[in-house]
Amino acid sequence: IGLVVAVFLFVVVVKFSEKPCFQLLTLLGQGISGWWSFSQQPHEAFQAGHPGYVSVPKQEPLKLQCDVCSVVSSSGQILGREAAPEIDHASCVWRMNNAPIRGFERDVGSRTDLRVVSHTSVPLLVQKPQHFFGRRGNETAYVVWGPLRNMRGDGKGVVYNMLRQAAENYPHARIYITTEERMNYCDTMFKKETGKDRIQSGSYLSTGWFTLILAMDVCKEIRVYGMINNTYCRSEGYRKVPYHYYEAGSRDECAEYLLHESAPYGGHRFITEKAVFAKWAKTHLIKFFYPEWQLS
Ligand SMILES: *[C@@H]1O[C@H](CO)[C@@H](O)[C@H](O)[C@H]1NC(C)=O
Ligand SMILES: *[C@@H]1O[C@H](CO)[C@@H](O)[C@H](O)[C@H]1NC(C)=O
Repeated sequence: IGLVVAVFLFVVVVKFSEKPCFQLLTLLGQGISGWWSFSQQPHEAFQAGHPGYVSVPKQEPLKLQCDVCSVVSSSGQILGREAAPEIDHASCVWRMNNAPIRGFERDVGSRTDLRVVSHTSVPLLVQKPQHFFGRRGNETAYVVWGPLRNMRGDGKGVVYNMLRQAAENYPHARIYITTEERMNYCDTMFKKETGKDRIQSGSYLSTGWFTLILAMDVCKEIRVYGMINNTYCRSEGYRKVPYHYYEAGSRDECAEYLLHESAPYGGHRFITEKAVFAKWAKTHLIKFFYPEWQLS
C-alpha cells in the first residue's frame, strides 16, 4: 500500500508541476541547502526583539543587533580626548538626548546608531526635526523614556503626541518608547541595588541609567566614554569640566552632581548610580574610558 501511495503521489507531483523529474530533485536540494544556510545565521534570521521598547505608533518591539557598543556620555570629560577612532570602531554607537556631533567629531565620533532620550529632551528634538529625523534619519533609532503621564498613547500624553507627529511627518524615522512595564522594571532595579525607593527618595533616574539597562540587554560588550566614577568628585585635583560637553561655560560637572545628589526632591542621584554601574560591571562586560575606571 505504501509503495502504491508513493508512486501515486510521485505521478501527481510530476504531472502538476510540469517540471521534469531531475529539476524537481534539484529544487528539493536547493530547498534543503537554503534552509540549512538560513539556520546558520542565528543573529540575522532570528534576531530577538526587545519587547520593553515599542515603536511609535505601531508598537513593534525594538530590534537591534549590536556586538560592541560605544556609549558616549554627554559629560565634558570627553572634551580634548580625541576618542573618535575608538568610539566609531564599535558595531553600534549610542548617544544620549540631543548631544550633538557637529563641531565635536574628533572627541565624540561621527556615527549614531541609537539615542536614548529623556521625555524632557523630546522638545529639543522636535525643534530640529529635519536634523534628527530627516534625510538620513533612519540611521538612528530613538528610544525615549518617560513617565506614563507624558508617554501615554491615548491622546493625553504630550510627549507621545510629539513623537507620533514626528513619526507621521518622517515615516522613515525609527522612534520607540519605553513601555510602562519596562519603566517600572528600571525603578525596581534602583530599589534592588540601593535599597531605596526611587519615588519616596524624591529622585529621578537619569538617562544614563536607562541607557545602561538597555545596553546590558542588547550589547555583548559595553564601552562607556566620558563617564566619571562615584568617587571622582571627592578625589584630589579632579578635572573641572562642563556638565555637558556641548554647553561651554555651564556649571561644572561635580558641582551639578553634588547639587543633584543632595536635592530633597526632583534630583538625579548621579553619584549613587555610578556606584551601581561599577557593581554591574562585575557581572557584565562594561568598561569605562576617559576617565578610566579601575574595576577589580
Ligand atoms: C534607511 O533607508 C534606506 C532607504 O530607504 C534603506 O536602504 C536603508 O536600509 C535604511 N537603513 C536602516 C538602518 O534602516
Ligand atoms: C575613580 O576616579 C578617581 C579619579 O579619577 C580615581 O583616583 C579612582 O582610582 C577611581 N576609582 C575607581 C574604582 O576606578
